[in-house]
Amino acid sequence: MNREIVKNGYIEEKIDKSINLPEAIIKLKKEKNAVILAHYYVKGELQEIADFTGDSLALSQQAAKTDADIILFIGVHFMAETAKILSPNKKVLLPDLNAGCSLADSCPEKDFAEFISNYPDHIVVSYVNTTAKIKALSDIICTSSNAKQIVADIPENQKIIFGPDKNLGDYVNKQTGRNMVLWDGACHVHHEFSLERILQLKKDNPHAKIIAHPECQKPVLMVADFVGSTSALLKFTGTDEAKTFIVATESGILHQMKKDNPDKEYIPAPGDDPDCACNDCEYMKLHDLKKVYNCLKYELPEINLDKELSKKAEKSILKMLEISEKLGL
Ligand code: 13P
Ligand code: SF4
Repeated sequence: MNREIVKNGYIEEKIDKSINLPEAIIKLKKEKNAVILAHYYVKGELQEIADFTGDSLALSQQAAKTDADIILFIGVHFMAETAKILSPNKKVLLPDLNAGCSLADSCPEKDFAEFISNYPDHIVVSYVNTTAKIKALSDIICTSSNAKQIVADIPENQKIIFGPDKNLGDYVNKQTGRNMVLWDGACHVHHEFSLERILQLKKDNPHAKIIAHPECQKPVLMVADFVGSTSALLKFTGTDEAKTFIVATESGILHQMKKDNPDKEYIPAPGDDPDCACNDCEYMKLHDLKKVYNCLKYELPEINLDKELSKKAEKSILKMLEISEKLGL
């Protein structure tokens, strides 16, 4: 396939207006034996055409076990990269290569390598929101679903560096009683939620429960009734008796929450600036039906990785999957 068709990170080819995109994508998917994996933060219409929608841990578990020939990943770059590392012989596609992650960007390889070299007796636990190069420098990967359990599984006398999310790292330190050395990184979406405006919402809706992703800052986590990964938040809204939830994570998750429990109310937590769509991850929202259709049709853009780097990064991800399986996560 002609790679030059990919301009500015995605394929812009015109699509006949008469084509029903969701139907056409599902047809192509069957013809090509492709599987579509989508994260909860992408647009609702994309979650609807996916074979599997989930959080980072579940998506990596799916990527590791699929027997499809093509994995079309509707999520951000590090997620597609993780899928490629776990399934190196499969074609892994990402509809828009510009779908990065501010948290992964907050941890450049050179600086992180220098940072960890200052702590030779520490092991490195890295959040999955990192590039393959950071994963290759790490001993164990974790996600927001298993961070607490993975860290708790490490012998108590073993010193640990945790990167790149300082908010998640700080939360895990509190939960496990550890004193991990933290890299100073954060996600621009979760870092922006306004405690003051969340508390005002709580005042206006006294029966509402505040639920938050552990990438949020400590003051937000401290007032939250429940803290968890995207799938844990989704589960909580389904099982808890509350009828209203103030949701401190990216807005895409509301699609699945409303779908699973339409009788409940979900209030997106606001940021400081009333005019900004602070709870939108602009990277996740880059994908749309047209890009997904073209991506599957032309099987581009494709994620490719240096084999040696991929092998090094794989070790730390497999360690995570192994511990997760052992702990039944
Ligand atoms: P989850 O693993 O909880 O889905 O989180 C991924 C993410 O990027 C959060 O910002
Ligand atoms: Fe990265 Fe934040 Fe977007 Fe999650 S919400 S993908 S951490 S930028």
